[in-house]
Amino acid sequence: MRAPIRVAVSGAAGQIGYSLIYRIAAGDMFGKDQPIILHLLEIPQALTSLKGVEMELDDCAFPLLEGIVTGSDPMKVFEGAEWAILVGAKPRGKGMERKDLLADNAKIFVDQGKALNRKDVKVLVVGNPANTNALVLAHNAKDLPKENIRSMMRLDQNRAIIQLAKKAGVLARDVKSVAVYGNHSPTMVPDYNNATIQGRKVEDVIKDKTWLQGEFMTTVKKRGAQIIEARGLSSSASAANAAIQTIQDWILPTPKDDLFCAGIYNAERDLFFGAALKDQKIVLGLKIDSFLEEQVKITEKELLEEREAVRQYL
Ligand SMILES: NC(=O)c1ccc[n+]([C@@H]2O[C@H](COP(=O)([O-])OP(=O)(O)OC[C@H]3O[C@@H](n4cnc5c(N)ncnc54)[C@H](O)[C@@H]3O)[C@@H](O)[C@H]2O)c1
Repeated sequence: MRAPIRVAVSGAAGQIGYSLIYRIAAGDMFGKDQPIILHLLEIPQALTSLKGVEMELDDCAFPLLEGIVTGSDPMKVFEGAEWAILVGAKPRGKGMERKDLLADNAKIFVDQGKALNRKDVKVLVVGNPANTNALVLAHNAKDLPKENIRSMMRLDQNRAIIQLAKKAGVLARDVKSVAVYGNHSPTMVPDYNNATIQGRKVEDVIKDKTWLQGEFMTTVKKRGAQIIEARGLSSSASAANAAIQTIQDWILPTPKDDLFCAGIYNAERDLFFGAALKDQKIVLGLKIDSFLEEQVKITEKELLEEREAVRQYL
């Protein structure tokens, strides 16, 4: 057997955590022959609930799970972790201003940045506002290379893939190279210009530009809200699945005819910006039309505003 990989998950007793950690322990993230040690972080008030999660992990008797570390101190829980998936974040309370949400989350990511301030860890930020949380973390972890930090955009990519597939009457696997740019928020920009359906340009298959620029965009951007309305809870299984895919996108070669999306650090703008990647490099030369260009400006403006709202934590 190989040496175990230590994987930290924050917010481990939350909804996404509950969908995520059992899949990690089952080998869905790093492979069916890779032993795992889980490092699970929660706030003190959720440690009892985390105990239940830990008991259930035990009761799965996962052959790959070699150990579980739990606690509420990021300095201790993150120690030795090679991967950290940061799901734990403060949700927006009733009547809460967006700037207060940004500040409350920034405080969390200042502390977690300090606890991850080393070169030998890779960090995926899932907790919202994910792009700006990743920025705060990056500024507070100067020894952690910025290319070791990503924020999650894969769920947005998957949401765009399935909408295109349904419209074209094909399967998800027939849709490739779907990029989503910018912020993981309703300003995100799903790119219908460079995506393909069964190897053909989307616009040659779906000849309805009004749908591509209208209903398609709106559905992808508002999917999270639609799920909350239907389930009474926010997306968790699909978010956990996207986190697993994001790590696989990171460690596996990208199929030739595809690309993947993640929020990566843009040094020029000092932002984490959703980008199209292939084999860990930005895909160059993707051209977008003036409609999408305008949208990219809007999402960039929003990210700059978010950055200003957390300026004191950078
Ligand atoms: N990037 C994406 O695509 C994406 C998709 C879906 C959800 N999200 C975000 O993921 C986050 C988690 O969602 P959820 O549905 O699991 O929420 P949840 O409220 O069910 O769980 C969050 C958990 O995080 C814990 N937590 C809060 N602060 C913490 C801290 N400082 N350290 C450790 N743990 C902490 C809470 O106790 C809770 O158990 C939310 O911010 C949500 O908006 C992101």
